[in-house]
Amino acid sequence: MCGITARVGTDDALEELLTSLSNLEYRGYDSAGVALLDGDLDVCKCEGETDDLRAAVESRRPSGPIGLGHTRWSTHGPPTDENAHPHTGCSDRVAVVHNGIIENYESLRTELRSRGHEFTSDTDTEVVPHLIEERLDAGRDPEAAFREVVDVLEGSYAVALAVEDDDVVYATRNGSPLVVGIGQEANYLASDIPAFLEFTDRVVYLEDDEVAVVGPDDVRFTDVDGRPIVREPQTVDWAAGDAEKSGYNHYMLKEINEQPVALRQAVEGRTDPGAREIDLEDLPPGTFDDVERVLFVACGTSYHAAMYATSLLQRRGVAASTSLASEFANEPMPLDESTLVVAVTQSGETADTLAALREADRAGARTLAVTNVVGSTAAREVDDVCYIRAGPEIGVAATKTFSSQVATLGVLAERLRGDVGDGEPPDEAFLRGLERLPDAVDSILEANRTERIADSYAGMDSYFFIGRGIGYPVALEGALKFKEITYEHAEGFAAGELKHGPLALVTTETVVVAVFTGENDEKTLHNVREVQSRGAPVVAVAPESATEVHRAVDDVVEIPDAPEELSGLLSNVVLQLLSYHAADLRDRPIDKPRNLAKSVTVE
Ligand code: AGP
Ligand code: GLU
Repeated sequence: MCGITARVGTDDALEELLTSLSNLEYRGYDSAGVALLDGDLDVCKCEGETDDLRAAVESRRPSGPIGLGHTRWSTHGPPTDENAHPHTGCSDRVAVVHNGIIENYESLRTELRSRGHEFTSDTDTEVVPHLIEERLDAGRDPEAAFREVVDVLEGSYAVALAVEDDDVVYATRNGSPLVVGIGQEANYLASDIPAFLEFTDRVVYLEDDEVAVVGPDDVRFTDVDGRPIVREPQTVDWAAGDAEKSGYNHYMLKEINEQPVALRQAVEGRTDPGAREIDLEDLPPGTFDDVERVLFVACGTSYHAAMYATSLLQRRGVAASTSLASEFANEPMPLDESTLVVAVTQSGETADTLAALREADRAGARTLAVTNVVGSTAAREVDDVCYIRAGPEIGVAATKTFSSQVATLGVLAERLRGDVGDGEPPDEAFLRGLERLPDAVDSILEANRTERIADSYAGMDSYFFIGRGIGYPVALEGALKFKEITYEHAEGFAAGELKHGPLALVTTETVVVAVFTGENDEKTLHNVREVQSRGAPVVAVAPESATEVHRAVDDVVEIPDAPEELSGLLSNVVLQLLSYHAADLRDRPIDKPRNLAKSVTVE
């Protein structure tokens, strides 16, 4: 997905616009562009990243107090200069930037062509400026033209418009995020807060179909019918530095090291081990009394966190299961108000997960989102929300948000135990384990030995990650992290599955990383011996007290002893570090892996 940004002030917008685009690049990028308005519109755009755009604008220095910016993650048309945004119409009187997919663009394009319009790009987006132009030519004012055009668009979009001889930017959204920044010297618009957080922390999250008219001195909001609405700004509690690297070489390493703080934020105020009580803000005891089963829907790393939570719930007597969000529509199952569908999504904008949520809602299920972003689409479309409070995660590879998801889901599991499960009060040892997570993770970060291990096993053919029980989703997550930033072949398996086929792949060039959680370790040790007898080197991640494991493997990274339900989360921190160092050894673009985007807002 891309990043939209806009700045409307009285002084030149270009520099802050380019800074905002750089801050948004993590969202997905293959081309970028700006449009500056000072009476006339001046558009500069190119394939590549914002550094390439900076070079392009140097030769032109477009200027103006009003600006639109865009970093593109292509969905329609390859990354080229022509397909980059902003897009204009036939006469360059209007400039448009867009995030998402306009699903009816082909029919609109055909109609426009039949009326003499000529297109210069392959994108779905380009129909918008041409449609705007037609309405301006018919005598509509820019706001009326914008509203009428948006009404004919189908699909998911966040879109912003600037018009020649005008002094505002028009914007609206349907399914893709858009947030307004209320500043001192200027007002801002962006797909995500980090774009302008260094300029202002006062934000308004635009709701679907609302229109924002962003001027230099004020921002007007209207509903879908153009009726004025009042939207009070919220103050973001993320410091501007949160979204910077704070001295680390990569956002990913910064965010791995932020996990003690993130976990503290996820748990604090929510647990009272001595009283065996939990407090989940708007979800008091009894909230889920009418629920009979829980179904998780998620993608990627969040899917692994959902698998982890499913295991926690099942151990507490709750009927729970997990579905890949992208497969949910292909798994027709009876859903009604007694089913709680939980979407686990750090961004709250993942199209596959939102589609699954909407499907569940249509079927009458009750919905809940476990997410990291206040005001995200998922957060606003569900019946209940539970925030993981991890702070901004910029690196495309999810790290701290996985840990914060698991910790938050652990607290939720104790709530569901009382309302839906075995009715026992929260487990004191588990709650104490949750409270101790920050210190346990700190000790793992301080003792970090994974750089040497990453170096020892560089150059091998493939990397297998295996685990049992809680260790199984951790093995899957470890493999995903490894493959997505090192580009090496890595696969995760349930440890017991190796002998059912994958063992045929194991050679002396196959590194096997085995996750031990303190549960069923003797069986996992059998699996370790299976691969060792084929000559494969084995690296174990195991609790300090699992000395039999330490003796059985080639390398071991110890984690502090903890309730085995939380050993998985601790082991995963080791696997994050292992992947990071392996990717750094290979000089990979760790924060922006090829082909991937931080938030996948297309299905
Ligand atoms: C994981 O490292 C990836 N970034 C990706 O799998 C991600 O977890 C997935 O796209 C889900 O994102 P979400 O949590 O924002 O829904
Ligand atoms: N669908 C539009 C395009 O392909 C926007 C993609 C995006 O969200 O960056 O240009």
